[in-house]
Amino acid sequence: MRFGADILRQADQLARFTSDPPRITRVYLSREHRAAGEYLRELMRAAGMRADFDALGNVVGRYDAEDLRAPVVMSGSHQDSVVDGGRYDGLFGILSAIACVRDLSARGRRLPYTLEIVAFGDEEGVRFGTALIGSKAMAGAFDPRWLDLTDASGVSMREALVAFGGDPEAWRTVDRCGGNVAAYVEAHIEQGPVLLDAGLPVGVVTAIAGGSRLLVAVTGHAGHAGTVPMGSRRDALAAAAEMLLEVERHCEENVGLVGTVGILRAAPGAINVIPGCVEFTVDVRSGDDERRRQAIAAFEEAFAKIAARRGVELASKTIYEVAASPCDARLQGDMARAIAAHGVDVRRLPSGAGHDCMVFPAVCPTAMLFVRCGNRGVSHHPDEIMSAEDAELATKVLLHFFEHLDLGR
Ligand code: GLV
Ligand code: MN
Ligand code: MN
Repeated sequence: MRFGADILRQADQLARFTSDPPRITRVYLSREHRAAGEYLRELMRAAGMRADFDALGNVVGRYDAEDLRAPVVMSGSHQDSVVDGGRYDGLFGILSAIACVRDLSARGRRLPYTLEIVAFGDEEGVRFGTALIGSKAMAGAFDPRWLDLTDASGVSMREALVAFGGDPEAWRTVDRCGGNVAAYVEAHIEQGPVLLDAGLPVGVVTAIAGGSRLLVAVTGHAGHAGTVPMGSRRDALAAAAEMLLEVERHCEENVGLVGTVGILRAAPGAINVIPGCVEFTVDVRSGDDERRRQAIAAFEEAFAKIAARRGVELASKTIYEVAASPCDARLQGDMARAIAAHGVDVRRLPSGAGHDCMVFPAVCPTAMLFVRCGNRGVSHHPDEIMSAEDAELATKVLLHFFEHLDLGR
């Protein structure tokens, strides 16, 4: 096996860079991010690339074309994880691209373009609430106000970047818009069961669903759980519970939408006190941006009605938004041919999960290769698995894609 076993071993090694062993939790600009980034940087260098951290904590490796004026093709994915995440989400896209370069450089083969591999610092958005920080910065969509966002301990992104060794004021230097980037290509574990059910190891992504994230604060009145009569309570958590169910109802009744309340914090958080304040998040996604916007408007209207009826205050803000992102038709065709060249039926499928790839259409045409996710397609969970055989095949497909990519057509 040329690639698969090494990639799985490297993913096991990276799983040790966690703030929360034996669980995998690695957030942006943490000590674990630094350690994983250094590990990936060394892998890139050993594979024959020049590699280092950029100002925002992304690790960027370059495998130069012979002609230094040649265009650039970018590949990679994210190094960060969700809380208690899986070991292949993000990392497979980085490790498989590095394996391709290692193979090319061992054969002394240069490509007619510079291949640049990026290990993005943040895609999941766990630490600062806003996601795709590294890739949005490269796609010219970094908002400098994000530097003032704070994590759960009150540390700002600006402070965390300085402590990490980055340079918050240099965020503009990572922008790749208007440069000579000809394509962005990302391999990623599917994170769902479609390929597994179809009995296929890989597939071509057609488009990535867009998403919005809301932070909602509900303020009622805390009080004694034993003395305040039921009819005169302003229970913030009971109101939030109704709102949560409204998100579920709306998304169940409208095909093409998925909605999740992933965080819900009640204060003061005591068994015998009526909750006075609640904060919760809403994550809503759709392949259809209009449908997603309508859902947000419907939530806001329903939340306001619930708040008025229950006599609680409501404040809601959108903390993250990304549009649905179609992949380039021509590059999809190239990926399909790379799959067919390995004797595998070509399956095209959309992505419900977000990916760094989704912001790159502002820079260049994009493509994605999905790899089968074992265990019924479970991901964002420690039970996420990928077989060495699938990792092997997907890396061969990616290498074929890189070696046959014709930018001159
Ligand atoms: C990232 O993996 C996301 O889709 O939330
Ligand atoms: Mn993820
Ligand atoms: Mn991912």
